[in-house]
Amino acid sequence: MAIDKKFIDQFVNVTSKAAIASSYLVGKKDKIAADKAAVDSMRTELNNMEIKGKIVIGEGELDEAPMLYIGEKLGTNNGPEFDIAVDPLEGTNFAANNLPGALSVIAIGEKNKLFKAPETYMEKISTKAREGNVVDLDYSVKKNIFNLSEYLNKKPENLTACILERPRHDKIVSELRDLNVKIKFISDGDVSGALLVTDDKYSVDIFLGTGGGPEGVLAAAALDAFDCSFQGRFLFETDKDKQRAKEMGINDLSKKYELNEIIKGDSIFCATGITSGDLVSGIKIQEDKFISETLVTHKHSSLKKVVKLNQKIIR
Ligand code: FBP
Repeated sequence: MAIDKKFIDQFVNVTSKAAIASSYLVGKKDKIAADKAAVDSMRTELNNMEIKGKIVIGEGELDEAPMLYIGEKLGTNNGPEFDIAVDPLEGTNFAANNLPGALSVIAIGEKNKLFKAPETYMEKISTKAREGNVVDLDYSVKKNIFNLSEYLNKKPENLTACILERPRHDKIVSELRDLNVKIKFISDGDVSGALLVTDDKYSVDIFLGTGGGPEGVLAAAALDAFDCSFQGRFLFETDKDKQRAKEMGINDLSKKYELNEIIKGDSIFCATGITSGDLVSGIKIQEDKFISETLVTHKHSSLKKVVKLNQKIIR
């Protein structure tokens, strides 16, 4: 069943308010305070909505996160049942240091249609090629690049790969270099990184590497609306992670998840800029108004656009 379009504006409001709340803490070198401001705002706004919402991806488990924890119920309890994935502040370093790319992000799915992801790392790959078999987590870097090169009719040296700059990616990076592929390194923020394959204007053909699992699920919701491809595989390193995964119903710990196993049915995705980045501009103050930009998608209505809001500053 489709998610009613009336909720689109309401969820845009949720991430816009969270971004505004966090924007007060931009450049204050306090990641925790910037995150808390976004979390508190998001929780208040979600609780005002006429929905029966349940967090499936949040700020952690109940014992470690007092708010927006996995399993938390949100909304007035009147209205449709939704699975909710949140990353109230994606890019805590960006916000704390006033660097480009901090976002407030939410993804909404129908009940039991959004993957309940543990807080662990995930191997990810995304491209604009929705057709199966072009790129795959199980292929070598070389095979993925050659397939994509053929599919896009671009030589490998004209392809750009986006990857988080981390020592764990040294091998992938050296393989990409051997193939002469251009690399766009990002220091953080791989929700945005994965979404750079959605439009030619970003000049990114493939996103790959290991980042947060929750961020992978959030990106997958938007990539689904853009008809792009995504695969993810969780990496469970510690016994605690493995135990937790089993408790969450994940039995095959090395399973490769296809996009349609991560997000099924209809979805809404909203990402509001806190600081300006590739996808959207950050919060700006003009006279007595906050100006926010939100990338919003709604799968059912094929909506994919950037919404600009002017909200009056209330002192
Ligand atoms: P935070 O907003 O929680 O700081 O996450 C930023 C981020 O860069 C994510 O976008 C990414 O998935 C993850 O951290 C990567 O983790 P790590 O920094 O441990 O490599």
